[in-house]
Amino acid sequence: IRDTATLREEIKQRRRAALGADVQVGLVPTMGYLHDGHASLMRAARKQSDVVVLSIFVNPIQFGPNEDFDSYPRDEERDLALAEREGVDIVFIPTVEVMYPGPTKTKIQVSGLTSRLCGASRPGHFDGVTTVVAKLFNLVQPDLAFFGMKDAQQVAVLQQMVQDLNMPVHIVPCPIVREEDGLALSSRNVYLSEEEREQALVLSRALREAESAVTSGTVKQVTDLRRQLEQTIGTSSLALIDYVEILTFPGLEPLDENMLLNTIDQDLIIALAVKFGRTRLIDNIRLQKA
Ligand code: PAJ
Repeated sequence: IRDTATLREEIKQRRRAALGADVQVGLVPTMGYLHDGHASLMRAARKQSDVVVLSIFVNPIQFGPNEDFDSYPRDEERDLALAEREGVDIVFIPTVEVMYPGPTKTKIQVSGLTSRLCGASRPGHFDGVTTVVAKLFNLVQPDLAFFGMKDAQQVAVLQQMVQDLNMPVHIVPCPIVREEDGLALSSRNVYLSEEEREQALVLSRALREAESAVTSGTVKQVTDLRRQLEQTIGTSSLALIDYVEILTFPGLEPLDENMLLNTIDQDLIIALAVKFGRTRLIDNIRLQKA
């Protein structure tokens, strides 16, 4: 489906066909060029909902002026085949004109949570995400919406939006899917040269080592944890650190550098953004509270 009227009608029909039964509509928003991380969201949606809607839309308003909107990888045919294999019921693929027919004068902005991490490196990015996701929620009216923890800040921001605006949608966070060697799947991985792809493994390795250093107690303070992460990433000659952050999750509050990790009574997240050549990769790991 490529237009909004048909989308609304199709969803209405499917709800009506259930003759009053409680139909759960599950939405999986994506920007396409689908991989197994996206597929895991579709599988979760298939399990937990009666009607699964996948949206594929490379959303221009969440890209900065010097970012990769134009070159973002696209392959509709392959995406549709994958959606079919995963048992998706409806694929919504609007054009930019369908989603933004005129100049947009309204935007959704979640404050605070968007000032750090990718919000700091990519000004306006999350306004674009929350605005397009709110539009998709209004069009599809899903009961459940599935998002990957690969973009942990996105999950925290969208949970806040849904809560603040009383949107009747339950956000379902899904675990990060990785290649066998540890690299988190991403549509942007295709940008990596062979050497960059090899060196990008340092991200998941740094996170794994950080996690075991915290659990075994060999690293005690926030500052030591940060130093260890930076040192590990520094072993990769091509890695250019954008940020290495240790924050509470889902509040995304920074921690006092001298704080003892085993005294923190909240879940934490270690979040990384690192550039390899022109490709910026993100990864993270959750540390459950002590
Ligand atoms: P996109 O980057 O296509 O990602 C779509 C969804 O797939 C997001 O929820 C993302 O977290 C999830 N995802 C990506 N890689 C994953 C992985 N390795 N494991 C698990 N989940 C993964 O995120 C967006 O698009 C956009 O911002 C969007 C929400 C669609 C709004 O435009």
